[in-house]
Amino acid sequence: MRRFKTLGAVVVLVTLFLIYFYSTLHLETAYSRRAGPGGLLKHPTRQVQDSDVKTPSATTPHPDVHEVSVSDVFRETIPRNGAYWNRLLYAALRNLDKGEDPFRRDTNWSGCRETNRELLQNNVHDFASYPVLFQDFLEGMKCRTPPVLLDQPNKCISGDGKADNQTFLLFAIKSTPGNFERRQAVRETWGREGPHQSGLRVRTVFLLGSPPLDDPHLAPLLSFEASHFKDLVQWDFHESLLNLTLKMNAFLQWMLKNCPSASFVFSGDDDVFVNTGGTRLPAVLGYLRSLEPSKASRLYVGHVISTANPLRDPASKYYIPLSFYDGPYPAYAGGGGFLISGALLHRLHAVSRVIPFFPIDDVYTGMCIKAMGVSPEANDGFQTFDVKEEDRENLCVHKSLLLIHQRSPQQTKKLWKGIHSPLLTC
Ligand SMILES: *[C@@H]1O[C@H](CO)[C@@H](O)[C@H](O)[C@H]1NC(C)=O
Ligand SMILES: *[C@@H]1O[C@H](CO)[C@@H](O)[C@H](O)[C@H]1NC(C)=O
Ligand SMILES: *[C@@H]1O[C@H](CO)[C@@H](O)[C@H](O)[C@H]1NC(C)=O
Repeated sequence: MRRFKTLGAVVVLVTLFLIYFYSTLHLETAYSRRAGPGGLLKHPTRQVQDSDVKTPSATTPHPDVHEVSVSDVFRETIPRNGAYWNRLLYAALRNLDKGEDPFRRDTNWSGCRETNRELLQNNVHDFASYPVLFQDFLEGMKCRTPPVLLDQPNKCISGDGKADNQTFLLFAIKSTPGNFERRQAVRETWGREGPHQSGLRVRTVFLLGSPPLDDPHLAPLLSFEASHFKDLVQWDFHESLLNLTLKMNAFLQWMLKNCPSASFVFSGDDDVFVNTGGTRLPAVLGYLRSLEPSKASRLYVGHVISTANPLRDPASKYYIPLSFYDGPYPAYAGGGGFLISGALLHRLHAVSRVIPFFPIDDVYTGMCIKAMGVSPEANDGFQTFDVKEEDRENLCVHKSLLLIHQRSPQQTKKLWKGIHSPLLTC
């Protein structure tokens, strides 16, 4: 009887193993067929076309796969299990460990969507039960090179010819086409470009997706705004929460090409208040300038969320189905606003070629950073969940912080003027 039971258990285990083995095998062949290293050889007709050359990825130098390594702490954090994303990750890591480029991606934007729903349905048993937007995310997960609509190739080259080309701080602000008023408030306040105290050069770009189709007036307004302020970078993809990882990645490609030597980058929303600093105020610029070189080269600082887990309530806007991702989130800096070294972004771009896209952009950044073996630094100056109700009008509180979520354009202007007033004594 006992032997019988053991035999039964062995049979069950072997079956489970075979199912698991088969499902990963299937996944792997699916990968190598579409994007794997052998892809080009298996499809001799797929050649580099002229139209490919215009995509950003073709002009952004691709890091050599041998320079990419994924830390053990990251591998220990992300469980190896049957969830789709986890399987994609470990399939990519297997290729990486074999010295192959796991994601030599198809740079053809129009051809990258997973049109074969059957493949997703085979790999994700309850795919049909996912929210429509989530299904949409999965179909476009491998699409990384949206066409550029508005570009600023000269952003980080000095206009006057004599001054430096060095960008100390690049503000990369996530905006959307209709948010003109917010952008204008940022330009007039914390995101104002130019050399600040002791000549530190600050530059600003707003990152946009495509304008909504139902507003035909927006596109001409945006090109006017872009030619006037020269600070809009826009790609042709639909603005949506689940496309923010794509926006971040598109920005990385843009930055590596057009502003590769920026010392620091601020990534954040267009409705936060950043205490950049001024003539007498230390704030963000003073903080960055005071860093030891060893720290400055691997800075990733903000409001750190260190013990988060995926939300499993389908009604939540951050809902993550269990069959998609199963595991904790690594510590990450809240996407409302964080600071990161330019040097780290170069490595982040390389490692992001191995880590599959995750639908939440700040979690994705945290994953890549962890894969690089770097830890986020928590700083109480970043209040991405806002300060206490009674302090929201308090100028001295604002003056002592680095970043606060979330302020209207009017509040931003008022606060900025207030904290820079010579009459203010804190
Ligand atoms: C890109 O993919 C689309 C759709 O699969 C195809 O029609 C087009 O010819 C491809 N373009 C290139 C340059 O390969
Ligand atoms: C700034 O960059 C431009 C373009 O790369 C170059 O022509 C110019 O000489 C540079 N200026 C300085 C001061 O380095
Ligand atoms: C992301 O952008 C692509 C390209 O415009 C679009 O097809 C897709 O629906 C968007 N994804 C989501 C989740 O909105």
